[in-house]
Amino acid sequence: MQITVNGTPREVDAPGDMPLLWVLRDVLGLTGTKFGCGMAQCGACTVHLDGEAVRSCVLPVSAVGERKITTIEGLSPDGGHPVQQAWTQLDVVQCGYCQPGQIMSAAALLAHKPDPSDEDIDLAMAGNICRCGTYQRIREAVRKAASQRRADR
Ligand code: FES
Ligand code: FES
Repeated sequence: MQITVNGTPREVDAPGDMPLLWVLRDVLGLTGTKFGCGMAQCGACTVHLDGEAVRSCVLPVSAVGERKITTIEGLSPDGGHPVQQAWTQLDVVQCGYCQPGQIMSAAALLAHKPDPSDEDIDLAMAGNICRCGTYQRIREAVRKAASQRRADR
């Protein structure tokens, strides 16, 4: 089947019921998206489908259809997305394992809500678990990225 990943149409030879996460990592070699629980419980596998944050571990590749997939590798050409910049400036990352999923959830939030309240941030990020407990820095970085995006406009 054909899917569009990070702006490029890709032919993939995979069973339709294979989770998108497996296709991304094992078929296409895009290993930035992580496997955590495999049960839509941790957010490590978050990617965008037409800009919406989805859990790729429970999404059969056949369900993607024409929608455009964006992974952490395709969020920006050079790591310059405001969320990525804020993450770097505030040194959010500890072990790093959960962070691609965190960044993809935060980027989807800001695309829909440029000026999120603390409640909006908590709600959007609630499904992304961090075993290192970087939650405070994540919230701060989302706020910083939001104000940077507004300033850039
Ligand atoms: S690996 Fe998909 S939500 Fe945990
Ligand atoms: S930074 Fe280690 S799990 Fe989140």
